[in-house]
Amino acid sequence: MTLPEIVLTEYTPSDLPTLQQWWKDKDVLEYVHELEHQLEGDTPGSKVGAGKYIARRNVRFMVRDAVTGAAVGFICVQVTGASWTEREGEPVMPPFHGGVNIVIDPLRQHGGIGPAALKALFDHPKLENLVTLGGAVDAANKASLGMLRKLGYVPSGPAVKGMVPFTVPGPAARRSSTVSDHR
Ligand SMILES: CC(C)(COP(=O)(O)OP(=O)(O)OC[C@H]1O[C@@H](n2cnc3c(N)ncnc32)[C@H](O)[C@@H]1OP(=O)(O)O)[C@@H](O)C(=O)NCCC(=O)NCCS
Repeated sequence: MTLPEIVLTEYTPSDLPTLQQWWKDKDVLEYVHELEHQLEGDTPGSKVGAGKYIARRNVRFMVRDAVTGAAVGFICVQVTGASWTEREGEPVMPPFHGGVNIVIDPLRQHGGIGPAALKALFDHPKLENLVTLGGAVDAANKASLGMLRKLGYVPSGPAVKGMVPFTVPGPAARRSSTVSDHR
């Protein structure tokens, strides 16, 4: 599988007008409706679900065409973990999980940028202590399911309320399995 050459750069507020253009797209609105929240920045230590707490502020990247530098996508990873005290605002402990949201420029979709960006993401040093990454994909989102299928990922369980769960090993898990493979 040959994928386009992309690079990941840190999201900065100067990228906002580009994202606002992409939000006008029907699929982006429908499948990544919470994107706006991802720009607000969560408070580390706050609770997001049963036993799950935000470990640090959202890790956000722009996906750029490696040749032209043009913005072609946006990725936000919400890093969560467990809190030993279960009190909001307390430090959050490993194992860390990254909930991934991805948007590709509506004019550049279906050209392999999505899978190229996820591959780069899963090896990114900023995510090196994540044991798992994943998210829930709308069962009607053929493009997202196709992108994940191309990368060889299969659902980690049955769909719940029309959302298909995916969990993939993060850099920390892949590192430890490499160590044990060589023992
Ligand atoms: C989902 C998304 C990130 C995928 O990125 P991408 O760069 O478009 O991904 P790909 O180029 O690999 O295309 C997706 C694959 O899905 C399949 N696919 C794409 N569109 C499809 C459609 N309308 N019907 C059926 N299959 C489709 C194809 O198999 C395609 O692979 P191909 O190029 O070999 O034909 C992008 O389409 C997007 O931003 N969509 C809107 C926001 C969104 O849904 N985000 C994900 C939320 S979970």
